[in-house]
Formats: sequence, structure tokens, C-alpha cells
Amino acid sequence: MSLLAELRERFAAAVNSLGEDPHRWLDQVRPAQSPRFGDYQANLALCLAKRFATSPRQLAQELIRRAQLDDLCHQVEVAGPGFINMRLRDDLLERRLTQAVHDPRLGIPLCASPQTFVVDYSAPNVAKPMHVGHIRSTVIGDSICRTLRFVGHQVISDNHLGDWGTQFGMIIYGWRHFVDEENFRQDPVGELARLYRLVNELAEKDPAVNKAVLAETAKLHAGDPDNRSLWQKFMPICLQEIEAIYRRLGVSFDYTLGESFYHDRLPALVEDLLRRGIARESDGAICIFLEGFKAPMIIRKRDGAFLYATTDLATLIYRMETWQPDWILYVVDHRQSLHFEQLFAAARLLGFDKVKLVHVSFGTVLGEDGRPFRTRAGDVVSLESLLDEAVARARKIVDANDDAKPNGPELSQEERARIAEVVGIGALKYADLSQNRTSDYVFSFDKMLAMNGNTGAYMQYAYARVRSIFARAGLSPEELRLSDGAIVLATPAERSLGLEILRFAEAIDLALEDFRPNQLTNYLFELATKYSSFYETCPVLQADTPSLRQSRLLLCDLTARTIQKGLELLGIQVVDRM
Ligand code: ARG
Repeated sequence: MSLLAELRERFAAAVNSLGEDPHRWLDQVRPAQSPRFGDYQANLALCLAKRFATSPRQLAQELIRRAQLDDLCHQVEVAGPGFINMRLRDDLLERRLTQAVHDPRLGIPLCASPQTFVVDYSAPNVAKPMHVGHIRSTVIGDSICRTLRFVGHQVISDNHLGDWGTQFGMIIYGWRHFVDEENFRQDPVGELARLYRLVNELAEKDPAVNKAVLAETAKLHAGDPDNRSLWQKFMPICLQEIEAIYRRLGVSFDYTLGESFYHDRLPALVEDLLRRGIARESDGAICIFLEGFKAPMIIRKRDGAFLYATTDLATLIYRMETWQPDWILYVVDHRQSLHFEQLFAAARLLGFDKVKLVHVSFGTVLGEDGRPFRTRAGDVVSLESLLDEAVARARKIVDANDDAKPNGPELSQEERARIAEVVGIGALKYADLSQNRTSDYVFSFDKMLAMNGNTGAYMQYAYARVRSIFARAGLSPEELRLSDGAIVLATPAERSLGLEILRFAEAIDLALEDFRPNQLTNYLFELATKYSSFYETCPVLQADTPSLRQSRLLLCDLTARTIQKGLELLGIQVVDRM
């Protein structure tokens, strides 16, 4: 349990013992706004006093008495009208930190009641190149999966590929009219991308082409052998393209069950919903009428075609039957929120009323002009070219840093290339994950690769800087951990770094509360800031006594491991030297 959760538990017991349900008041126990007020504060006496017809100050005193905080806090004060200010005991912090040194989990507990989560993320529409819009779902979903797993939940990641849509009608049409066989042999991914772009453009201009594309798609869906075999020929090529990107991003899935996987189930699903009276015919279409929505959810069009919503219903049923999850998270951009509201309402009608269905939505990636991010020429930017550019820019930084080292360059060409890959991709991910996911954000290579501020490059640098102390000391962190030194928090800077390290558990709780990885990036940035103050004021290798040197080295090691673990939960790697 985090320190905060522990304090909340004590106050919950106190409020309970007064005969009041504590739960709605507990978020009034929180980190102090300023160190002047201690480490944590509790303002619940102010809200609760009326109910007990007593003064807030008096109630605060009573709550403190009942909460029995002595083993956690060495100073608890009632301030102003009834604020409770708490300062944690130094010996408690020291003991927990020393324990964390020997714990591969850094003292982060497993959750009390593990749940099963299905996480639906990335889900690009294949047969067209992945673009910047796909980065968000992919990295946010990946980070959520990593964090849930770390605290002990069962996670099933499922990439719901768009592998059955009109884009296949386009490349089938393109294949029939414009394929360059030689080019296809040499660069199948490139040739399919070319066909997609070409036909997409034609179809926008020419209604006849558009109609032909839709006809090819309909034939594919109806089981036409030629179109099916073309689809089968194209799919491995499409998968190859996205897998190359996932490999580079370090993202993988337990399942990749795309829309095509559910296609055969749709006719029976619609019939079943009709039979059960959940769906009915309206104007030739089959619809589910949902309370509170202006328009019904259409699940079969007049012409017999099924829709995105139909597939999503079939997918939900499959997931419930196969994995019996407690949660299904859909990491999908905010423009689909109405779709998910309807889907969730329909799921309730189908009787799935226990599973928690969450649309983990996110905003748009904007260019510096404030409009959706595009190339100069106005095209969508391919994800691969973005990764390449981030890595190329990181390489320049790595080269410049290394060339400027006082004793000359230290890194080989291979090391530089590897570091640039880690830093470039890390910067890109961090820039995305550090945003409040529901807002739009402006994409800027300069900002994401800045060496100061809340960026991936800065965090990786902070990590390498902590680690470099060990190189200078000629000591390996593993050796250090084996020695039986203890952490002492001798100065305010050490104490505040130590407390921040222990607050990692709290950051993880916050990140999972509403599936917001930016809670982790905020935390890591705060930790790096505290470390900087520590490093400025507390000599480590030149500390006054061997035991103080030992303690400070252990704090450095814990800082590095916390940064490393935090970045790992974000799907970002570290390097020991930069
Ligand atoms: N392929 C869809 C798109 O690109 C996203 C799918 C999200 N997942 C889902 N179950 N609907 O818009």
C-alpha cells in the first residue's frame, strides 16, 4: 500500500468509528500543498464537522486521536480552521527505503484483489500505412498494460485490427487496374501503400471509382473467392508492415483478433438479437434502440451490410465468453465516444451488467499550426518516417554530447546508433504519454528532444547521470546492494528525495485510477527534480563518513531504479551512458 493509502485507511477507520461512511471524504487526505504544511494533509474535519454539530478544530483533534497515527507520523497538527497537517516519521521513511533497496519491486506492493482486464488498443486500419494518429493508442495502451501487469492484474491485450474495411476494396480495385508487378515483388508493402493512396485519391474525385471500390469490398464480404484470395495474399504483407513498427516501439499483443475474425458471426448475432427482441427492424435496417440516445444503433443496413458497431458487439460477446473479464478498456480516440457510449449501453441490454467498460479516449496530435499534424505537402505523416526522424535527431544530440566529452569521445558508432534509437523512440513516446490524454497536443521534435524540462531525453539523461556516479566510484550497484548499509535521511534534501522515492506507489495508483500515464511522467519529473537538489547540496562520493557515503549511494541507486522502472512502465528504455 502507498503511504497515502495507509493514511487514508487510518482516517477511514477513524471516521467509521464515529458512525459515518468514510468513502466520500477520503480524497480529502492528500499530499501537502507545500512542505510548510508537512508531508500530507487531511481536510475532512472541515467537511464533516457540520454532521457532528461540533467545531472543525475539535473534530480534527478527535479524528487524530482515533486514527492512531503514531507509528506513521511524528508530528500531527491542527492548523487554521481545522486542517490536519502530518509529517511522516523519519525512521519510518528510512526503514522503508532500506527495505526497498533489497526488493526487486522497490517496495511497490501487488494489488489486493487482482482483476482481469482486456485492453483493446492500437487497432490500426491495415492496408494503409500507419500514421501519427496511431502513436497515441499504441503507446498509451501499452503503458496501461504494463502498469496493470506490474501491480498484479491479469491483462489480455488484444489488437482489434481494422482488417476488413473499405481500404481492402481500394487495394483490390488498385490491384486489378494499376498494379506494378515488378514493384510488388521487390517492395510489396510499398506497392500496396502506393495502390491505396492512388485509389483513395481517385475515389474521392470520381464517384464511379468509389462505387467500384465499394463493390469490391462487398464482394470480399460476401465470400467471393477471387477477392478472398487477394485479401489472403495482402494480409501477411500488411501485418509485416505493422509488426516492423511494433518491434521498433517494443510493443506486443497477446492476441490480434481483427474485424475479419468476427465476420462469420455477424449474421447469427443479428438474428439472435432480433429473436430476443433487443433489435428490431426500422425502415429496412436492423436497429437497437437505446434509451437516452437520439439515434438508434444500426447493426444491419438495408442492403444487408454489417457495420463497425455490429463487429464491436460480436467482439464484446466473444471477449466476455472467452475471458470473463472484469474490465474492458478501449484505448481509442475521442471522436469515437458516441460509438462507445452506444456500444456500452447495448452491452447492458445484452445482460453484461457487471463488466466495467471504459472508453480510454484521447485527443488529436496537432502540428505547430494547431491543425491535425500533416507533412508540408499536406499528407498524413507515416509513423515510420516519424520514428526515423526522431532517431536521426537524437543521433545528432548523442554525437554532439560525446564529441564534447572532456577526455574525448567514449562511444563507438554502434553504441551511438543504439543510444540514438532508444533516446529518439523514448522521446517520442514520452512526449505523448506526458500529455493529459484527453487534450490535443502539439507535436514538436524540438520540444520532445529538449535536454531540460519534462521530456524523455531529460529523464534518460537523469538516469545516466545517476548511474555515472557508480562508474566514477568504481562500484557496481549490485555490490552496493549486497553490503548491509542503511539509509539515513540526514538533511532536508535527502529526506525530500527519500520521501519522493517512496511516493512511486502513489503515482502508480493515480495512473491506474483513471488510466492516465501522465501521472507517471509527472512523478518521474518531480523525482528527477528532487534528485537534482539532493545532488547539488549533498556530496556523495566525498561524504563526511563512510556510512553517509553508503547511504547516499543507496539513495542514488534507488533513484536510478525508480526512474528505470517508471520508464519501463511507460514502455521506455534507459541507457547507462549518453
Ligand atoms: N480500427 C479502428 C480505427 O482505426 C479502431 C478500433 C478500436 N477498437 C474497437 N474495438 N472499436 O478507427
